[in-house]
Amino acid sequence: MVEVPNCAARLVELFGSQAEVARAFQLDRAVVHHWVKTGYVPARWAGEVERVTQGRISSVEVINEASAKNPVRVKSRPDNAPFGMSESDPMSQYAPTKRIHSFHPPQRTLMGPGPTEIHPRVLTTMSQPAIGYLDPVFVEMMEELKSLLRYVYQTKNPLTFPISGPGSVGMEYCFVNLVAPGDKVIVCQNGVFGGRMLENVIRCGGVPVLVEDKWGDPVDPQKLEDALKKNPDAKIVAFVHAETSTGAQSDAKTLVKLAHKHDALSIVDAVTSLGGTPVKVDEWGIDAIYSASQKCLSCTPGLSPVSFSERVVERVKARKDKIHSWFMDMNLLLGYWGATTRTYHHTAPTNSLFALHEALLLIREEGLENSWARHHRHHLALKAGLEAMGLKFLVEEKVQLPQMNAVRCPEGVDEAKVRRTLLSEFSIEIGAGLGPLAGKIWRFGLMGYSCRPDNVMLCLSALGSVLQDAGLPVHVGDAEAAAHGAYAQMHVKDAQRKKRTA
Ligand SMILES: Cc1ncc(COP(=O)(O)O)c(C=O)c1O
Repeated sequence: MVEVPNCAARLVELFGSQAEVARAFQLDRAVVHHWVKTGYVPARWAGEVERVTQGRISSVEVINEASAKNPVRVKSRPDNAPFGMSESDPMSQYAPTKRIHSFHPPQRTLMGPGPTEIHPRVLTTMSQPAIGYLDPVFVEMMEELKSLLRYVYQTKNPLTFPISGPGSVGMEYCFVNLVAPGDKVIVCQNGVFGGRMLENVIRCGGVPVLVEDKWGDPVDPQKLEDALKKNPDAKIVAFVHAETSTGAQSDAKTLVKLAHKHDALSIVDAVTSLGGTPVKVDEWGIDAIYSASQKCLSCTPGLSPVSFSERVVERVKARKDKIHSWFMDMNLLLGYWGATTRTYHHTAPTNSLFALHEALLLIREEGLENSWARHHRHHLALKAGLEAMGLKFLVEEKVQLPQMNAVRCPEGVDEAKVRRTLLSEFSIEIGAGLGPLAGKIWRFGLMGYSCRPDNVMLCLSALGSVLQDAGLPVHVGDAEAAAHGAYAQMHVKDAQRKKRTA
């Protein structure tokens, strides 16, 4: 039988000598010598081996060999451990304590479609001691949290609170409560997330009517009006205010007005818009709205703020059929988040809710309008820089979301490689295209705490150097200069405005 050389020997063969292996891995030669002597590379190097050898030795080979040569022994457990759990417990091989260490994520600059970076004040608040979800101190905090949410949503709706779960749960909550089997729902789709709304309508037993727009365009009010005229029995109109998959913003005020004109309620997705661009629930008459904690609110993911008009609450209370989901049934959850009672419904994610309270407080302190203006300002600077590199936006300027900037990947450039390099060399995360836009665009998020001038400049500088390496005729420094120019112009305009109003 031919003996296959072990991974350590293969590394030496690939690189020519132990010294060259040490150089490639930026290691002391003694470490490599030890690998060769023991005849295997420790499993923790698996990923690095695959990367450095460009896949010629795969991480799985390293892990399999290391596990065979050095089986896991959990020595810290006594042989006569109580509850029958000993070293020979077959489960220990799945979670070997000797191999698993505390997790310390790297510091990243998050400029994708979310999650965003989190303000240190929010992180600190989140690490405060746990308390019970019915503790009077917590209950007091819940009331503040609701009023802070009313502020960011610009609403007086009493039923405004965070659902335990990501934005997708907020979306589902709206559909499950509002759509009874047989209800006709008009869904406007101009990207990925309108498609998810459609899926929700179907799963609730509703009758969907799809109004489609090109990905990158906003929802066309005329098409909605035509659909409403053709379907006078439609009970609900659903649309995404800020389509994260393309960076296009729709005119929520006009779309809601049209729904009301034809006696339909509105469900609005404000996952990416809330906190970054105006969302005015009362002024625009929105009936049901949901968002997510990890976008422009810059909190930890896993919470979905929602708000419902009195009309919606009455409609749900009047439903004769049983709502299909126990967890999502608005009537039951009212017992915990409603105005008067505080009874057990589910165990609320208390520390995440502390964090959301702090994240909203930061917006309250900054001022909502200032937060919208900040997103707009840094978007203009980023846009100036990206365009100076010759990149083209997917969406027309007048409907561009400041917090989600989608640009086309130039012909001949390896889209995924650029993202990988930004992450590995500059620790910057940006987003890829979804669905039909996969491989064709990059998405640069400027959301919440990530929306800062230092991130704009770092991103432009890193991208410039990566694109130049990729062979594009990018002159390093031009993008930064264009962004500085955009900031300078905005400063001048601000100064002139102040002078006029003084
Ligand atoms: C517009 C929109 N709706 C819904 C969602 C779903 O939110 P989550 O990922 O928090 O479940 C997202 C997520 O990116 C989104 O951008």
